[in-house]
Amino acid sequence: MAQLWGGRFTKETDQLVYQFNASISFDRRFWKQDIEGSMAHVKMLARQGILTEKEKDEILEGLESIRRDVEKGKLVITEEYEDIHSFVEANLIDRIGEAGKKLHTGRSRNDQVALDMKLYTRDQVKEVDELLKELLVTLLHIMEENLETYMPGFTHLQKAQPVTLAHHVGAYFEMFKRDRQRMQDIYRRMNYCPLGSGALAGTTYPLDRDYTAELLGFAGPTLNSMDSVADRDYLIEFLSALSTIMMHLSRFSEEIIIWNSNEYRFVEIDDAYSTGSSIMPQKKNPDIAELVRGKTGRVYGALVSMLTVLKGIPLAYNKDMQEDKELSFDAMDTVKGCLHLFNGMMKTMKFRKDVMTKSAVNGFTNATDAADYLVNKGVPFRDAHGIIGRLVLYCIDKNAGIDELSLEELKAISPVFEEDIYDAISLKTCVEKRLTTGAPGPEAMKKVIALQKAYLEEN
Ligand code: ARG
Repeated sequence: MAQLWGGRFTKETDQLVYQFNASISFDRRFWKQDIEGSMAHVKMLARQGILTEKEKDEILEGLESIRRDVEKGKLVITEEYEDIHSFVEANLIDRIGEAGKKLHTGRSRNDQVALDMKLYTRDQVKEVDELLKELLVTLLHIMEENLETYMPGFTHLQKAQPVTLAHHVGAYFEMFKRDRQRMQDIYRRMNYCPLGSGALAGTTYPLDRDYTAELLGFAGPTLNSMDSVADRDYLIEFLSALSTIMMHLSRFSEEIIIWNSNEYRFVEIDDAYSTGSSIMPQKKNPDIAELVRGKTGRVYGALVSMLTVLKGIPLAYNKDMQEDKELSFDAMDTVKGCLHLFNGMMKTMKFRKDVMTKSAVNGFTNATDAADYLVNKGVPFRDAHGIIGRLVLYCIDKNAGIDELSLEELKAISPVFEEDIYDAISLKTCVEKRLTTGAPGPEAMKKVIALQKAYLEEN
């Protein structure tokens, strides 16, 4: 057991208490951030005359050698230390002696851990943003290739009106683009440095918090020392944004699972992204999509856990806050893994354009357009709706599409129908005429794609 605080104790910590209390098994993951924060702290202490230049140089060299050795695997982070902060400090003292004991001047583990967690999370926000961007590039590519790939659009999972694959995928482009914007918002709001807040009430040393903040790439120091050590709002925001990403991925996965089924056959997931069955030789299962859908739960779990951990703790730091780590780390790993694999699955997936088009033709996806045809000939919309409803009923009975009826049959239901009805309700017309901004018509979609392309170039 290597602890930083033995002085006022007369007994050894109970072994189980020690294990229950220790965080090294999971906070070891931000060892780099811990060293980086210590380096900035020491530079500031020397600049303020709190440490000598010599002490600063010795400490920086010591920290640098720890960084090098951990990176190379020469120094292993073992569980004999209580947490990563103790590990770094103890190793520093081992290496450089007296000067190492001055590292913690004007600092508490409370502002130290607040900083480490923030630095680590800030990197994660960037990584998630980059993965989202990669997915957007893939989606945009699919959109460009499929401007005229017709497919049914659904409401209530019932065929509704024809759209294109570009348009359907474009809906997800919007979702993941908003997810990126959330990353950027979070980054901006969280980017203030808690270091120098001490245990809760600042310190009496003349620390220059602006300088440490600047060294660590923050927009400035946080403005209340109690809030600084007690704040994990940025984690809640991040976990909430991660949950939203998972919700989007899960929703898309659900569609891909449906599209990949024998009943739909809209897509074929690449062999590299499918798995087989141990008993049924014919099976090729969409496991990646299913796992992404399934893993959504644990990310939501991390969000609910964090909200719950924080809801009852009085200011400022309480040990409950150590619980901010394990589930958050798991959520970050999970989302990054899912984004990566989902992107690979999308990149390699085949779209069966013929099957999609065929599916778009039947199921009366042109019924609204048939009603609009009558409206254009002067029939009030409500009457037109009724006429086409009766027409659909007639078609169901005959097992035919509206466009498969003869003009006589159509005229028997409404004399307004003329020869031009066939062109008006063809699949091509139904899609191409939808040209309002955001609609599936290829000409409208081209304008949107140009905007999305410019967005990806600028962001
Ligand atoms: N392991 C602790 C955490 O993760 C570090 C801070 C400890 N501070 C304290 N006063 N016990 O929150």
